[in-house]
Amino acid sequence: MKSFLLIISLAVTSTFLSISFSQEAPSAPGKTGLQTYIVFLDKPEGLTLPTEGSNSNHADLRSWYTTFLPETTLTTNEERIVHSYRNVVTGFAAKLTPQEARAMEDKAGFVSARVQRSLSLLTTRTPEFLGLQQSLGAWNLPNSGEGVIIGVIDTGINHGHPSFSDEGMPPPPSKWRGRCEFNGKRICNNKLIGARSFLTNTTPSEDVDFYHGSHTAGEAAGSPVQGANVFGQANGTAMGIAPKAHLAMYKICLKDECFESGLLAAMDAAIEDGVDVLSLSITDGSSPFYDNTISLGAFRAIQSGIFVSCSAGNEGPSKSSVVNDAPWILTVGASTIDREIRATVLLGNNVELHGQSAYQPKDLNSRQLPIIDPAATGINASATFCGPRVLILVDVKGKIVLCQIGGEVRTIEKGQEVKDHGGAAMILINDLAGGYTTLASAHVLPASHINYQHGLAVKGYLTSTQLPTASISFGGTLIGKSNAPQVAFFSSRGPSPQSPGILKPDIIGPGVNILAAWGASVDNATNSFNVVSGTSMSCPHLSGVAALIKSAHPDWSPAAIKSAILTTAYTINRDGSSISTEQNVSATVFDLGSGHVNPPTAMNPGLVYDLHPDDFVPYLCGLGYDDKAVRLIVQRKVNCSMVPSIPEAQLNYPTFSISLHFGDQKTYTRTVTNVGLPNSTYTYKALSLEGVDVKVMPKEIKFRELKEKASFSVKFTRFGNAMGSSSVSEGHLVWSSNEGEYNVVSAIVVVFV
Ligand SMILES: *[C@@H]1O[C@H](CO)[C@@H](O)[C@H](O)[C@H]1NC(C)=O
Ligand SMILES: *[C@@H]1O[C@H](CO)[C@@H](O)[C@H](O)[C@H]1NC(C)=O
Ligand SMILES: *[C@@H]1O[C@H](CO)[C@@H](O)[C@H](O)[C@H]1NC(C)=O
Ligand SMILES: *[C@@H]1O[C@H](CO)[C@@H](O)[C@H](O)[C@H]1NC(C)=O
Ligand SMILES: *[C@@H]1O[C@H](CO)[C@@H](O)[C@H](O)[C@H]1NC(C)=O
Ligand SMILES: *[C@@H]1O[C@H](CO)[C@@H](O)[C@H](O)[C@H]1NC(C)=O
Repeated sequence: MKSFLLIISLAVTSTFLSISFSQEAPSAPGKTGLQTYIVFLDKPEGLTLPTEGSNSNHADLRSWYTTFLPETTLTTNEERIVHSYRNVVTGFAAKLTPQEARAMEDKAGFVSARVQRSLSLLTTRTPEFLGLQQSLGAWNLPNSGEGVIIGVIDTGINHGHPSFSDEGMPPPPSKWRGRCEFNGKRICNNKLIGARSFLTNTTPSEDVDFYHGSHTAGEAAGSPVQGANVFGQANGTAMGIAPKAHLAMYKICLKDECFESGLLAAMDAAIEDGVDVLSLSITDGSSPFYDNTISLGAFRAIQSGIFVSCSAGNEGPSKSSVVNDAPWILTVGASTIDREIRATVLLGNNVELHGQSAYQPKDLNSRQLPIIDPAATGINASATFCGPRVLILVDVKGKIVLCQIGGEVRTIEKGQEVKDHGGAAMILINDLAGGYTTLASAHVLPASHINYQHGLAVKGYLTSTQLPTASISFGGTLIGKSNAPQVAFFSSRGPSPQSPGILKPDIIGPGVNILAAWGASVDNATNSFNVVSGTSMSCPHLSGVAALIKSAHPDWSPAAIKSAILTTAYTINRDGSSISTEQNVSATVFDLGSGHVNPPTAMNPGLVYDLHPDDFVPYLCGLGYDDKAVRLIVQRKVNCSMVPSIPEAQLNYPTFSISLHFGDQKTYTRTVTNVGLPNSTYTYKALSLEGVDVKVMPKEIKFRELKEKASFSVKFTRFGNAMGSSSVSEGHLVWSSNEGEYNVVSAIVVVFV
């Protein structure tokens, strides 16, 4: 049964598995025909939902849930109810047959039921790269995340790892109500203050997949560990972005399998436990917000003031591939940092090609060896990707083997195939879509991942000579790559499939070749660290940044924190050029959202575009959702015909994503809140949008005190019809304070229809 369950792609691309799309695939029915269903109900009158998880109310809810179940018990004596929800949704997860699920449909309060889906899971250098310098043991910031609790929903955690040591950590804040109960073991301390598992039917011995969860937790809030490296590479002090924040791990995955029922239960618990930030490097694919468990759980989280940061997905560079795109979620894409772990290919014709690999054993002599390209053997496509059991047909012994990324084979596994069949080394080449993004993975043999152009050079060389040869030599860790940050090819792109009127992804952050805690040693070193890549890695960086802002501004709403991050992002790389994509061309807002996170500036943005959770109701009605759907999300009665619904672009979001027909004119309003200087004046700076006339009213806003609000309108008029080949125009709307301190920048994209 297990093998039928979905192959999960950790949103870790160093273990490259092009994501096998799982959102529509239900879990397999067992022999009994039972499957785990998620059952959504409508909150009954007189049974108010407990906001603080009061036990009596919860017992009421649970006994009401039981009335939906068939009277028969399971022959195995198992409980039918797997999870009974109290915060995130009204409803439960239970083992049912399709007939039993259908039988519930007539009962009062029933809304919908479906088989649960499986989910995809989608650092030493990053704090410095993000401008967070350590000076005398303290961030050059007002704080290091003190007093903030980050909940990570993931695969578990390697709790004995020094990244989760609590040296110098104060006890948890008094509001903390969470628990520590992994397999009945007491594993917590003042860093890792909560640890719970939402797996059902597992034995503790199986419960060992700490890789992905250790990495993400370490990136968000790991304690400093000196001399962290893998194979001696990327050596330095590994530390999370908010090293003084507390961590709570909510385990929902066993090995590579994670399911919606556990995700909802974990979010339910995290809301009651009192986390401040939720970090989800996981996706259940793209579906309408009322039918997407992450969107549903995240909405209840923001209603409790909890900030939710999620991965944008690893399906880039395809258009509209972004997931976790609800406007109450921070949707995080991935980009490179300025570090390179160099592995150089020297071809027999003396052409040198720099690639990357984290596996850099000291004792390796690099000599010229024959190269072979399995793709040229004409066996089948699997040969191109060095897939399982295909290299047996290729004479790879003692040779350097060319393997292309993708083909649903992880990069590490490609290397393992080559090694198992006697190959000496691997040159990993990108396909066209992979472009210039290269990954420094911990391979099992000498290898170098080179970019697409270099791959073409190798192939050209192979056809030019009878006996092609190459060597691989290791160049160690280099800092200062000038085109960083650059959007990684795998980072999912906009526009948002579920709500194109909201610009997604929101932001990019470090997600390529990130060193952080790991579940086991890959190089036999005492402390286990690994370098991996994915939007799974960029999301926790932003969770850490949110924790820093929350610590400095405990009264800020999740929307205010998001606004601070978005309006202070930058779009220029270290070279002083526009941030580029994996194709080495200027990135668009659909690649990078507002831009790259800039934590020091995000701490003090001047103005914020704030939102109350209730502000989403007119937006949701405006999306065309029916009352039942809106109720599922906001968990209260809503009658959309009584609510003045708004177009998506009218939501008080810090960015604009609008569409204009020829001759169209559209006006939207925004409200900003002063969080900078009490007495300040902001002036609108017009940055022209090609093909669009933008009029902002008023052009100047004066504030007299903090928390004061002011509104302005923006009128977009499309003119001219000569857009050439471009159907999209983008630019920025900037409010600059006369006091010279602040530039509050909103990315704008106009799609011409
Ligand atoms: C890592 O850096 C530390 C501090 O500079 C140094 O003592 C240590 O030898 C380095 N380790 C490796 C493997 O290079
Ligand atoms: C490719 O060929 C190998 C060896 O015959 C076989 O095992 C594998 O299933 C084939 N793969 C595909 C995708 O056809
Ligand atoms: C780690 O140690 C084991 C046992 O000594 C050895 O077989 C393995 O090759 C080592 N791995 C690495 C990456 O050095
Ligand atoms: C990427 O583009 C920049 C600017 O156009 C150029 O200087 C650089 O050489 C390019 N890099 C590669 C690897 O093509
Ligand atoms: C919603 O409001 C409209 C207009 O007042 C009313 O006709 C309709 O019955 C209401 N729907 C519900 C479900 O209450
Ligand atoms: C703001 O400016 C006004 C008028 O100049 C002054 O009366 C007021 O005290 C100032 N407020 C603050 C907080 O500085």
